[in-house]
Amino acid sequence: MTTTHAFSPIVKVAHRGASFEAPENTRTAFRRAIEQGADLIETDVHRTADGVLVLVHDDTLERTTNVREVFPGRTSYAVADFTWDELQQLDAGSWKGTEFAGERIPSLAQFLDLLQGCRTGLLLEVKDPTLYPGMAADLVAVLEASEQFVEPALVSGKLIVQSFHWDFVREFHALMPAVPVGYLALPEWEPHAEDAAWLATYNPYYRAASPELMERVHELGMRSFPWTVNEPEEMHAVLDAGADGIITDKPLVLEQVVRER
Ligand code: G3P
Ligand code: CA
Repeated sequence: MTTTHAFSPIVKVAHRGASFEAPENTRTAFRRAIEQGADLIETDVHRTADGVLVLVHDDTLERTTNVREVFPGRTSYAVADFTWDELQQLDAGSWKGTEFAGERIPSLAQFLDLLQGCRTGLLLEVKDPTLYPGMAADLVAVLEASEQFVEPALVSGKLIVQSFHWDFVREFHALMPAVPVGYLALPEWEPHAEDAAWLATYNPYYRAASPELMERVHELGMRSFPWTVNEPEEMHAVLDAGADGIITDKPLVLEQVVRER
């Protein structure tokens, strides 16, 4: 398949949606990021007890939902210990502000439906796959069922799957090689040619994004979107170092920075 990267020259990635102003990883945060012209939305995937892939950052539900009120006395608040129906009883918005009351944790499949026909694509981070045996195959199944999003996204280069977990990245790539994959770099990891041959992105913590590292990444044919950069001066510094894009909670601020350059 031919991939043309239909991005802005600097790739604007909304981290958990427009998560500075709306509750992270919710439909409102995603819709705002789309309205604000993000090229990609970065989001995090976990799996429910009954096997639904859901978008939430933490392994557990306490920080971003009212799970303790709805299910008092449970011994675990891990995402993996709740069913999809149980998760849908939780309010995933009020912690950010009363105007967001009633937001629900979305499934990955729902989000892929939302993205259909949008110019905004998906940078999907798979969270700790060691908690979820069979996660790579489950992800393949959801993507294959969402071909109306996936097929055009592959043509325009607007789908990337990334993880901090090297074994997962390799396993997923072997199962679905048409989907570009990225590694979320740990500080001690050095990019090597044998890895770069099949990696599309190498995304480090932004303070590690030196000009030398960006040059090495480009020599190896990968792109780099450092995370998570929210202040204009820091965005300029990361772009001056040679980054291809930025992952930010504030897509509007990044838009302004890009216009200034
Ligand atoms: O996309 C990279 C970044 O999201 C990794 O950190 O903790 O925000 O998922 P975290
Ligand atoms: Ca993430």
